[in-house]
Amino acid sequence: MKEGKEVKAAATPNGKIDQIIDKYQGDSSALIQVLLEIQSENHWLPKEALEKVSEKLEVPLNQIQHVATFYKAFSLVPRGRHEIQVCMGTACHIRGAPRVLDAVQDLLGIHPGETDLDLKFSLNTVNCLGCCALGPVMVVDGKYHGKITPTEAEKVLKDYD
Ligand code: FES
Repeated sequence: MKEGKEVKAAATPNGKIDQIIDKYQGDSSALIQVLLEIQSENHWLPKEALEKVSEKLEVPLNQIQHVATFYKAFSLVPRGRHEIQVCMGTACHIRGAPRVLDAVQDLLGIHPGETDLDLKFSLNTVNCLGCCALGPVMVVDGKYHGKITPTEAEKVLKDYD
């Protein structure tokens, strides 16, 4: 699924989002904190959630939208529960990263910049993760997998719920 495509997906029940917002009891200065918590819980910021934040914290929706688009930590399009990064920097490229990326793409049916329909995985490529000696490198939810082969990459991803 391409980013920006409309998807009916609210992984987090509304009650949980309400709880997060209610914790701050209408304190508009907590806006970024509230958005961070919703992002962390839900992996992205659905429009309905932003409308609730706007209503309960009494902050105009366009101001919230501005904050949500300004900070890279926030996503306004659906994101998977797990974030995969495959390094395509020169060192990793030479050591076989394209084959690792191909295996991941084939397994998940998505390309870099996309999220699968189950909202399980989002896939991205990066240019260097600063650990070139470990190449090729794949990172899943911040966990580094170095010197990874296409088969190992598939195995790693199959272990995620
Ligand atoms: S090129 Fe992949 S970690 Fe540096």
